Amino acid sequence: MSEMLSRVDRAKLPRHVAIIMDGNGRWASGRGLLRSAGHAAGVKTLKKILTTAVNLKLEALTVYAFSTENWKRPLAEVDFLMHLFSDYLEREKREMHENNVRIRFLGRTEDFSPLIQSQIRDATELMKNNTGVKFNIAADYGGRDEIIRAAQKLAAKAARGELDAENITVETFESELDTAGQPPVDLLIRTSGDMRISNFLLWQAAYAEFWFTKTPWPEFTPEEFIEALIEFGSRARRFGGVT
Ligand code: FPP
Repeated sequence: MSEMLSRVDRAKLPRHVAIIMDGNGRWASGRGLLRSAGHAAGVKTLKKILTTAVNLKLEALTVYAFSTENWKRPLAEVDFLMHLFSDYLEREKREMHENNVRIRFLGRTEDFSPLIQSQIRDATELMKNNTGVKFNIAADYGGRDEIIRAAQKLAAKAARGELDAENITVETFESELDTAGQPPVDLLIRTSGDMRISNFLLWQAAYAEFWFTKTPWPEFTPEEFIEALIEFGSRARRFGGVT
């Protein structure tokens, strides 16, 4: 691992990496296990990837934990994911704090149980002055929903006379997104073979580089994560211009 870390050219690292942690269910089914076992294995992968992000001093890491559409899954699976989420926050928040991680939650959160809502508040408060990796967990998150909420906030400001419509810019819009103050997504990773964005960070990923792997999330390793980061360093990014 340290050998791999030494191969990373820090100057070419992405500032913000986003991950669609896909394939937990298929990984488990393929082994004759319940889908829930796949999600539990997925949490272990997440811990390793966050540790790697901390070691590499990445600026921001965003993971898709639960989408606004995931409520449509069977109740037992939703319940399991909620318990996992709650246990994860309880178990991991001390270590994250010691690692100077600043946690933030993207999404609605108000439909979560009162316990999870208070855990979200506590973890956010605990780490709010940390200066290390900005770790965003997208939970009850949808990119369209986030953009609509930002538009509503701007419209409300305009209605109160605090903002002129013509003063709405990329910057004012971004300041109302859940990721306000963070850099745009440079690299978006999706595991498990599908090649789509699934309503994740639609605004922030406008110029993201994509990296897809067939590896299901429970089998995704720090080594493969670093491989994606190294490959990112060789991409020519033009942002609509020419080189
Ligand atoms: C996608 O796999 C994964 C999810 C919907 C949930 C991701 C959750 C975790 C990795 C663990 C919980 C997260 C935290 C922050 C504690 P899928 O179920 O869609 O897999 P499939 O496409 O194979 O069915």
